[in-house]
Amino acid sequence: MNRLLMNSFLLAALLMLPGQANARSDSLYQDLGGTAGIEQLVEDLLFNVADDRRIRHHFMDIDIGRLHEKLSEQICELAGGPCVYTGDDMVKSHTGMGVTRADFNALVEALQVAMDDNGVSVSAQNRLLALLAPMHHEIVGL
Ligand code: HEM
Repeated sequence: MNRLLMNSFLLAALLMLPGQANARSDSLYQDLGGTAGIEQLVEDLLFNVADDRRIRHHFMDIDIGRLHEKLSEQICELAGGPCVYTGDDMVKSHTGMGVTRADFNALVEALQVAMDDNGVSVSAQNRLLALLAPMHHEIVGL
């Protein structure tokens, strides 16, 4: 067997190790700073939202402590971390709110600023946004 072929087999075997698979699947969670990093990120996101005249009216009369907890769990789980999301589904949570596409984009902007402020790499930012973007179907226009 030539050396190149043998290296390919070794690489394939390594990639199949369960430890390797885990290491890859929770890498976004690690890049966001783990549970503590995500909780800080969500706190900063909610402060940015409260400062944003375009969307802050949506968040006036809600339990902000609960939103912080549920959103942190959700992002942690989505990022491959060890959390379990225990909140309501997205349709139920946003029905009757009349969230527009512009509102959605404003919240994404607030998240991007929070990620910049927390030193999250551009690659990790893009990976998180790619996980959140498809959710607009369950949030906008309800
Ligand atoms: C990717 C985008 C979004 C995600 C991942 C998200 C996620 C969540 C989560 C996890 C909850 C908590 C559910 C629960 O209490 O069980 C929630 C509630 C809420 N969301 Fe969103 N959301 C998004 C976009 C938006 C937008 C764009 C707005 C408005 C501008 C918004 C307004 C709210 C409000 C006001 C609540 C609190 C509802 C209540 O407690 O009565 N969300 N969202």
